[in-house]
Amino acid sequence: MVSGGAPRILGDVFCGKDLLVRTRVAIIGAGPAGLLLSHLLDLEGIESVLIERQTEDYVRARVRAGILEAGTVDLLKQAGLGDRLAAEGMEHRGIYLRWPGERHHLDFVELAGRSVTVYGQTEVTKDLMDARAKAGRAAFYQASDVVPHDVETSSPYVTFVDVDGREVRVDAEIIAGCDGFHGPSRGAVLGGQDWERTYPFAWLGVLADVAPSTDELIYAWHPDGFAMHSMRSPRVSRFYLQVRPDEDLAAWSDDRIWTALSARLGADEEGWTLKTGPITEKSVLPMRSFVSTPMRSGRLFLAGDAAHIVPPTGAKGLNLAVADVALLSSALAAWLRSGSESLASAYSDTALRRVWRCTHFSWWMTTMLHRHGDDFDAQLQLSQLSRTVASDAAASELAQNYAGLPLSI
Ligand code: FAD
Ligand code: DHB
Repeated sequence: MVSGGAPRILGDVFCGKDLLVRTRVAIIGAGPAGLLLSHLLDLEGIESVLIERQTEDYVRARVRAGILEAGTVDLLKQAGLGDRLAAEGMEHRGIYLRWPGERHHLDFVELAGRSVTVYGQTEVTKDLMDARAKAGRAAFYQASDVVPHDVETSSPYVTFVDVDGREVRVDAEIIAGCDGFHGPSRGAVLGGQDWERTYPFAWLGVLADVAPSTDELIYAWHPDGFAMHSMRSPRVSRFYLQVRPDEDLAAWSDDRIWTALSARLGADEEGWTLKTGPITEKSVLPMRSFVSTPMRSGRLFLAGDAAHIVPPTGAKGLNLAVADVALLSSALAAWLRSGSESLASAYSDTALRRVWRCTHFSWWMTTMLHRHGDDFDAQLQLSQLSRTVASDAAASELAQNYAGLPLSI
């Protein structure tokens, strides 16, 4: 099924396929990276086709990240996607860091001159899908056996089987691999190299229909493990608990979750009550750092989780995907509109500088806040936390990275 407006369908003349489509940019994956890239290219007058493995409803409903950097917010507003974001996004000046006996607020506006905004990835996805539907743009959902071909030539193409079982071929000038960690694009990069770190813990993520018990996010170190209090709206809260990577979800009753959250977030110690409500979603999220280089191979460009994964502590995953796409859309526009390839040639190196910075920041936040190692490691973490809130320089370093660094660093 093709959702949205019809792509240019050329028929089955050349390729022995049931359907041949021609476009300028074939985008594999309709997560935030793919959807935003197609929107930004559209604004540049460049046609693209999205090819997505899941159903449209599944993509719309996925619960993931929740914090937008100031630069991400600016970009979405400039791209005409700011109406609901302005009305429903909750601007936060900073975060709380807490550990037993201590709670400190880091004010990013004072420390770094920038705020962050609470606005769920689900909402960003909805805004992007609505914009595409309004513009009548084409997307293939429920595509299977998606394969990029001939990426080192000037005539790359993508093949897949569509939801009706037809074999489809999309001819393009460029292929954008926005297909996340498990997609096929990364494997098509010639001579690629991967760097990876897995962590000996995971997050139990919880979404609950209850008003937040805090005005801004709490990141908490605790002897039982890390906990975080986040939110999605004035009526919906998001929580995370450090658990084992092989944790059995069934072992976490709602009561056990609320008791652990209350203890680890320090509610009892600080004399406040964690509000509870119906839990609407629970899942265990693995934690890994992963970078794949280069982010370009011939006419194939990688963006977002297809090229890199960060552990979620520090809320960088979605913001990094948006930053990649901001760079990539300008580079492709310069190339496809005026034949200038210099930004496209620089894309991988430029994006990777930011990727490695965010990879370091996410690793640092993760390592500082999660229980791992022995009691000696715990003392080092507590010393690092104390230093982070006591020193303006250390606090500013956290604030600048969290609230977001410039696109090109
Ligand atoms: P994705 O969102 O993964 O999108 C990739 C798309 O490609 C998907 O729609 C997928 O279905 C599609 N695809 C995959 N394979 C194929 C194929 N073979 N053919 C066609 N399409 C394909 N980040 C944070 O900052 N904070 C968080 O709390 C947080 N929580 C997360 C929870 C989970 C469970 C996950 C997986 C990620 C989380 N992240 C979080 C990371 C953040 O959501 C991602 O960084 C962000 O989604 C990246 O966007 P993307 O478009 O690059 O990749
Ligand atoms: C959220 C996720 C994060 O990884 C984070 O650091 C802050 C907030 C969230 O889902 O709300």
